[in-house]
Formats: sequence, C-alpha cells, structure tokens
Amino acid sequence: MALDIESIRDDFPILNRRLPNGKKLVYFDNAATSQKPQCVIDAMSEYYSEYNSNAHRANHTLADEATTALEEARNSISSYFGTSPDQMIYTSGATEAINLVSFGWARENLEEDDVVVITEMEHHADIVPWQQLSKEKGIEVRYVPIDTNSFTLDMQAFEVAVEGAALVCVVHTSNVLGIRNPIERIVEISHSNNARVLLDCAQGAPHERINFDDSGVDFVAVSAHKMGGPTGIGCLLVKKDAMDQMGPFMTGGSMIKTVSTNGSTFQEGHAMFETGTPRIAEAIGWGAAVDWLDKFDMVQVHSHINKIASWTAEKISEIDGITVYGDPTRQDSSGAVSFLHDSIQSQDLSILLDEGGFAVRTGHHCAQPLMDALGVPSTNRASFWIYNTMEEAESFVEHLSYVVERFSTS
Ligand code: ALA
Repeated sequence: MALDIESIRDDFPILNRRLPNGKKLVYFDNAATSQKPQCVIDAMSEYYSEYNSNAHRANHTLADEATTALEEARNSISSYFGTSPDQMIYTSGATEAINLVSFGWARENLEEDDVVVITEMEHHADIVPWQQLSKEKGIEVRYVPIDTNSFTLDMQAFEVAVEGAALVCVVHTSNVLGIRNPIERIVEISHSNNARVLLDCAQGAPHERINFDDSGVDFVAVSAHKMGGPTGIGCLLVKKDAMDQMGPFMTGGSMIKTVSTNGSTFQEGHAMFETGTPRIAEAIGWGAAVDWLDKFDMVQVHSHINKIASWTAEKISEIDGITVYGDPTRQDSSGAVSFLHDSIQSQDLSILLDEGGFAVRTGHHCAQPLMDALGVPSTNRASFWIYNTMEEAESFVEHLSYVVERFSTS
C-alpha cells in the first residue's frame, strides 16, 4: 500500500504552524532534527502527568510504572533495530554513543600506534573523539578521502587504510551529502582485516531500517531526535563480545554493584554504562516514535524522500549560480540536498528562504573536514523526511528561483 502522506502529516501538529510573517511553515531541516508525531508528545506528557518517578530505585507504584515503561521502551527500540535489549545502552544521543566507544572500548583495548580509520565524510562527533584519543594514547588516525566528482568514499583508499587497523568508524549516511556509504562492503573488508566497525547511524536510521544483528557491525550509534523521537536520547548497540571488552565510561550511581570507602564494584552488561537517573521521559518518547515508525515500510519511506530530494536537486541546479554538492539523484541517496549560490551568501540565502516559510540549515553541518574537501566554508541544506511533499518541493524551487532572480549580483 502506498504511503498516505496527508494522514502522516495529520500526526504532526507543528506542520500546521504559520510563521510570524503569516507564511505556512515548510520544514526542510530534518537532518538537524525531525518533527515529532503527536503520540510521542502524548507519551512524554502522560509520563510527567500520570507516573513521573525515578526508575530502578523505589518500590512504590509510580516507581514500578516508570521502571516498566523505561524497560518496555528498551524492548521496542532494540527490537526495532533487530537486536536484543541486553545489547543496547541508552545514551544522550549518537555523540555520547561514539564517545562511549572511545572511552569504554578503545581506551581499554587500543595502545600506542594502533590504527583507527575514519573518513573525511564524518560528523565532528566521529572525528574529535579519535583525535583526542590520539593525543592521549598515541593511536594513529587514518582518514579515507572522498572522490569529489562522485561525492562517494574512495574505496581503493579505504582498502589501503584498513590494513592493520583495529577500528573502522564510518558514517552510514552523510548528513551533508545524503550519500549512503557501502556499509556491507566496508564491514566485510574491515572484518577480514580483523578490525571492529563502528557505524554512525544518526542520519541513516531515519531513512533505512537498520538490523543490527544481521549487519554484523560491532557498534552502532543512533540518535532518537532525527527519527521522530525526542532530543537528549539515543543508544549504542554493541555486540556481546565487544561489550565484554568494555570498561566503565561515566561512573557514579546506578552503574555500581557495591561502593565502600575501599572502592567500588560495577554492574555487568548495559547497566555498567547507564549512570545516574535514566532519561526516562525521553526513552518513553523514543519508544513511542519507533512504534509509530514501525507501521511504515522504510523502503517506501526512502523512495518517497529520495524522489523529492532528487527532483529538488535537479531543479535547483538549473537555477543560475546554484551548485549542488552531492548526488541526490542516486537511488541510495537519503534526503539531503546541499547547495550554494555563487553571489548570495549562504546565511543571507537562508534568511531569504525563511521569509518564504522555508526552514533550511546553513553552515558547516559539523563536518568541517568534508567542507575542506569540497572547497567551501559552508552550504545551505534542504533535508526531507516522511511528511514532506512534492508540492512543498515545488514551492521551494519557485521561491528559490524568485530569490535568486531578485538578489543575485552575478
Ligand atoms: N548533525 C545535525 C545536522 O546535520 C545537527 O544538522
């Protein structure tokens, strides 16, 4: 059955919003964060108004309800990602999940001169932790370049870089280019070189059903807020044998078994990595989001988004002075169209688009090495999700054409 976009839109109250200038909101900043369906807002509100309490501590009714809801959310989320709850660690988002690999696994298992392979396409969240580890422990960080004609990873360079590596950290889908990397090949080559693989799925999970157990990947980092869930929560999915090699990251309450003035002992499994009061409302909201998303065939969702993105990219590249970075016409490309105009500054362009009601992001998108490779300081980026329509894309192209005609000096 085809996706019923109008009924999907009805689930998102914010999409009826008008901006202060009276323009109807067209939300094309989904790669920064998606909007939230009503069921997510309701689930979080119900927790706060009906059973707000701490989890895994007391025995009273509200505490039991909060604990049950937190763990039911873990069951839903881990099952959505094709794995078991004991292989899922709640984090504040993908950034904390990657830091958890760096602090919890890499600091325990890597030594001076061990190699971590990353790519020029990574988000800063998957670059800076490895640079810091390099300063601290003397590990070598190898960067795989992108081919700036095809905007894809240079896989020949990848094959050379991975030789002798201990860990390969790759973004599933670029938040700037929308390019999906050849994950299956990357995992195969990495594992045949005995390297573990960390996938940053912050941008991939809203567009593709990730099956952790089938993927063979060792670590997967996910954020809830780009896939209909709230901000402030995400998770790290970890293969059991990798979790067994991990030591604690943040220490304190919840993650301990015993504490005395002589020292402490720690919980085992995911409990060792979930320190302090859990993100209860956020977990419940994310659980509601995956239950909502589970109703849809993600192949259809991807193809709906891909159609809008590729049409938009083709149309705007016909506008005088516009350059599109990336190749949204690729079948596997996922809903981000980055572009620049040659005489209208990107900040000015985004303000002029906002005046028409269009929310797009401007900046380096937390991917400065990628900007360096592309030879630009920033881009404008229109990014799409499940509720966007071709009509919105048509009005965007029309408004962008008007803005360029009116303000271009080239
Ligand atoms: N990483 C997010 C983005 O791409 C915030 O905008």
